[in-house]
Amino acid sequence: MTKKIAVLPGDGIGIEIVAEAIKVIDLLKSGFGLGIEYETAPIGGAGYDAAGEPLPEATLALAREADAVLLGAVGGPQYDKLPRDKRPERGLLAIREGLGLFSNLRPAILYAQLADASTLKPEVVAGLDIMIVRELTGGIYFGQPRGIRSRDDGQREGFNTLVYSEMEIERIARSAFDTAMKRDRRLCSVDKANVLEVSELWREVVTRVSSDYPEVELSHMYVDNAAMQLVRAPKQFDVMVTGNMFGDILSDAAAMLTGSIGMLPSASLDENGKGMYEPIHGSAPDIAGKDVANPLATILSVAMMLRHSLEEPALADVIEKAVGKVLDQGLRTADIETEGATVIGTAAMGDAVVAAMQEMSN
Ligand code: IPM
Ligand code: MG
Repeated sequence: MTKKIAVLPGDGIGIEIVAEAIKVIDLLKSGFGLGIEYETAPIGGAGYDAAGEPLPEATLALAREADAVLLGAVGGPQYDKLPRDKRPERGLLAIREGLGLFSNLRPAILYAQLADASTLKPEVVAGLDIMIVRELTGGIYFGQPRGIRSRDDGQREGFNTLVYSEMEIERIARSAFDTAMKRDRRLCSVDKANVLEVSELWREVVTRVSSDYPEVELSHMYVDNAAMQLVRAPKQFDVMVTGNMFGDILSDAAAMLTGSIGMLPSASLDENGKGMYEPIHGSAPDIAGKDVANPLATILSVAMMLRHSLEEPALADVIEKAVGKVLDQGLRTADIETEGATVIGTAAMGDAVVAAMQEMSN
């Protein structure tokens, strides 16, 4: 059966890295028998330019009917002065909400070939393989009420609401336990239960869910300690689960442990495993259009898509192996340059992955 994917390149380097991922998808079609078709639509600043909205209705409709979504990145300085609800980031939050993508999987894997790219000592990060499961459609990002208001004393105040229902906590906990079951079966839940009531409930619900997963070893950690442990001894972690904002922060820290945010894909899943797949990095307007961006995170996002939404794990393996081969060949984009390696551009990196895959097709 032919699967349909929505392709949303977005802004900045999103356009050129998605173009490389498309080369990979085209080869999966022509050389590996994958039944897939795709349609492209604008989001973020591109959505605003095309339809006056960071998430045009037609884009959301396309994403809704697709089996999976591939996203590049959103944002650019030309959009910074727009009202908040028109900014590119709003498009990203709206599509997460609109598709119900509550479970965000953010792996932090250190490729052995790139060990030198980390700012941490090799012995601290060698072999690193962490999965952060971030709640993506709740918490302080979406809580009501929110706003900026004037007080009687003439001062303005800004306010947001950090709220999680039991249902929201339970479903992200289940998603994290399921993830842990496929890995080393260790789950660390990160909260701020020493200060916040919402975390107290979080801890209680996660603990309750754990009784359905007796094989998974559950631990709890306060978020400040978790941030410290991530840079002190990151290999103690297998899967971490946390709320929207803590996950935003910790996943950036975890990504940088690998020295190569340009390498890391992510998946955002709904209740039924439908997902949106995107690189962890942003739109990097400063290097957009210069053929220097690293397309590997986006290409690896296609692998995650094959695994989590399209039920094609063997093809996911092909992509991941091809990326490994390219790194073995010493090919690097500028962001992951290591000593003695050959630095190439965005398009050449995409071509190198395609060539490595082609060798596996016969
Ligand atoms: C991320 C990003 C987004 C977030 C921004 C761009 C809205 O930082 O995906 O981590 O905060 O979720
Ligand atoms: Mg972030």
